[in-house]
Amino acid sequence: MSSADPMEPAAGPAPRPAGGTSPPAGTAAAPASPALATRQLAAGYGDVPVIHGVDLEVRAGQLVAVVGPNGAGKSTLLKAILGLARIMGGQVLADGNEVTGRPLEELVRLGVGYVPQVDDVFDPLKVSENLNMGGYLLGKDERATRMEEVLAIFPALRSRLNRYVGTMSGGERKMTAIARALMMSPRVLILDEPTAGLSAALTEAVLNDQVRTLADHGHAVLLVEQKAQAALRLADVASVLVQGRVAMSAPAAEVLASPQMAEVFLGGRAEQAADAGGQAKVDGQAKVDGQAKVDGP
Ligand SMILES: Nc1ncnc2c1ncn2[C@@H]1O[C@H](COP(=O)(O)OP(=O)(O)O)[C@@H](O)[C@H]1O
Ligand SMILES: [Mg+2]
Repeated sequence: MSSADPMEPAAGPAPRPAGGTSPPAGTAAAPASPALATRQLAAGYGDVPVIHGVDLEVRAGQLVAVVGPNGAGKSTLLKAILGLARIMGGQVLADGNEVTGRPLEELVRLGVGYVPQVDDVFDPLKVSENLNMGGYLLGKDERATRMEEVLAIFPALRSRLNRYVGTMSGGERKMTAIARALMMSPRVLILDEPTAGLSAALTEAVLNDQVRTLADHGHAVLLVEQKAQAALRLADVASVLVQGRVAMSAPAAEVLASPQMAEVFLGGRAEQAADAGGQAKVDGQAKVDGQAKVDGP
């Protein structure tokens, strides 16, 4: 509950948070509130807690990656933010306003966009139809205007507007899915493993040309990725989730260079084969305290 204006169109690329034109009117902290934050968030399913005391912040123009082994709770963290898992403690804040446990549709209206790992586009429909569905809450004229704005972010989609999504490549489909979420002019984009099932080359393309581009256009981007190294090379800040807790949170380059985190990724067998050169130091031991799941060597 603070000074932030509840909902503005946020059409174009937003400038960096520091150089804004309007100084905060209230008595909030010097920089504007993060577009999205969690404070000591705990959540799970039924009576079973999965994530514990997770603190996270994502600001406009920032790409924040959450990485960690399979089963660490990355998707659960996103589901908790999106009101899809059971909250057991803590808070979710959007632009400084508490939105803990709010249903997804309400979050969308508040400027939070979500691209799920699967079922993120409608295969039997054309790209243009998928985009229109993403903007179903908008009036017709507004929808057309917004589609133009989205195509300005992803110009490659323009020539594909009449393609049926079911006939497209994985990378094109993901671009369609992200564009669909963009139709509601979200300030925050939440992406759950956008590269799942994609080849190494397409993974690079999706992360570079799509995910990084969103942040460069001023969106706050929260990326969950199991392909940790690929994500860490592009992200600004990263949190490593291990067994539902943040094991490290730092500039992504620091996380990438951390021998301790290399062990985490080796333990999770995240993408060992994908990048031979990136690891600082890795020996055969896959050993992480309390790791959920460690595959054999
Ligand atoms: N719908 C669910 N009901 C019960 N347990 C679940 C459910 N979804 C995930 N889990 C459990 O939560 C833990 C974390 O899973 P998840 O958040 O999917 O991890 P990640 O996305 O990091 O691979 C796992 O132990 C998983 O079995
Ligand atoms: Mg997951």
